[in-house]
Amino acid sequence: AIFLVGFRRYCKKTSTKLRVSEALSGAELGSDVKVQGWVRSVRPQKDNIFLHVNDGSSLQSLQIVAGAKLNDPLLTFGSAVEVTGVLKKSPHQKQPVELEAEQIRVVGECNPIDFPFKIKERHNLEYIRKLPHLRCRTNAFSSLLRIRSEATAAIHSYFKDNGFVQIHTPIITSNDCEGAGELFRVEPSGPDYVDDEDFFSVPAFLTVSGQLHLEVISGAFSKVYTFGPSFRAENSQSRRHLAEFFMVEAEISFTESLEDLTKVMEDMFRSATEHVLAHCVEDVDLFHRHVTPGHRDTIEAMLNKSFPVITYTEAIEILHRHSEKFTFRTDWGCDLKTEHEKYLVKHCGNVPVFVTDYPYDLKPFYAKDNQDHPKHTAAAVDLLVPGVGELCGGSLREERLDLLMARLKQVGLEDTYSWYLDLRRFGSVPHGGFGLGFERYLQCILGVDNIKDVIPFPRFSHSCLL
Ligand code: 4AD
Repeated sequence: AIFLVGFRRYCKKTSTKLRVSEALSGAELGSDVKVQGWVRSVRPQKDNIFLHVNDGSSLQSLQIVAGAKLNDPLLTFGSAVEVTGVLKKSPHQKQPVELEAEQIRVVGECNPIDFPFKIKERHNLEYIRKLPHLRCRTNAFSSLLRIRSEATAAIHSYFKDNGFVQIHTPIITSNDCEGAGELFRVEPSGPDYVDDEDFFSVPAFLTVSGQLHLEVISGAFSKVYTFGPSFRAENSQSRRHLAEFFMVEAEISFTESLEDLTKVMEDMFRSATEHVLAHCVEDVDLFHRHVTPGHRDTIEAMLNKSFPVITYTEAIEILHRHSEKFTFRTDWGCDLKTEHEKYLVKHCGNVPVFVTDYPYDLKPFYAKDNQDHPKHTAAAVDLLVPGVGELCGGSLREERLDLLMARLKQVGLEDTYSWYLDLRRFGSVPHGGFGLGFERYLQCILGVDNIKDVIPFPRFSHSCLL
């Protein structure tokens, strides 16, 4: 009897667990495999049943062929399944391999009548946006999430390959780096805290930017970056603003000119975009074919040309010549609005364009004074891109103690930023940096109109679902 049990165990097949992407690549052809995922289509026929199963590892689903006896009423669109069987070459050209099922187990049922997605229907981005807890089950959003992950990795690689050190800047902070007053206050809550208790002893906020903390570290490390969430209490329902977004920020010491910064911005943009186009071919194609047809040409045109640079003063001259086209002012000293930014991009050939040397009064206290310019400007630069407008904002930082002190006094912040002034007292060097809005970057490369469609869980005024 013991021999028989041992023999049966020996004969019992062990199946290799594969992700759908691995199975599709032809790994383990002819072997017994196990695949787990969610049913994307079910086609019962007289003798066989055909399923497509997806597990998020690829846009393509794996075709499963099973004898009719394996059919199960619970095997519906959206249900979760575990399939074991033999991976075979498929006779169909479109589908290189298929899994000939020996066993199908329904792990999680899905009532197709209640399920908000319908088989064979193409759901648009507006519809799926209202279902943040389920939209990762659609092709478009799962493609977006894979692209987002790959773009994140590409940005980290760019910085690693170029000698930057990643710094985890804090989420909770006591400063308003941009000075725009768009802060979310952080307070403790719960039975242990009474209303007036002051947890940090100073007002604390969710960070709007990691820049000032990066500046601290760049005072010893030269090249640093951070990539994390930023928060802005902007009461905006616009297609390019969120209350919580991800920002890539870099800070570089011994930087004397804006060209040093624009070079890093442009190189990073190119390197990440080329990586995404090369590594997410099918996923990007879905956006370039179905969401914004023709966007591929726009992207290729962007990558084929170096990004033009114009000064703010030149930008204003261009806009002023066509002032009748705009709702907002176009005289020197005004802030550039989205309509202006999009016009400038078109004017420069629908490619990313750097705008430099903004009026000094438009920029935060840290921006370096261009003292030798005829107009009072700051050494600041924005990168404007097709379809979006402002993608990056950066500047040289005021490294001269006397000028920075005067500026902080002028805006009444010299006590708040005494530690920042210390950075200019102890080994100050010319330095600068920039921040890139990661969601706007994804909008730009994919041609997505609404920023809420490129982040897993969008937060904006009057909306914090889930
Ligand atoms: O231009 P901003 O405000 O620059 C800074 O915060 C600097 N301290 C960065 C630095 O120099 N280290 O923001 C940088 C970028 C913008 O160009 C934009 O792409 C994005 O962050 N951004 C937003 N993205 C989505 N929603 C919002 N509410 C955003 N606000 C800024």
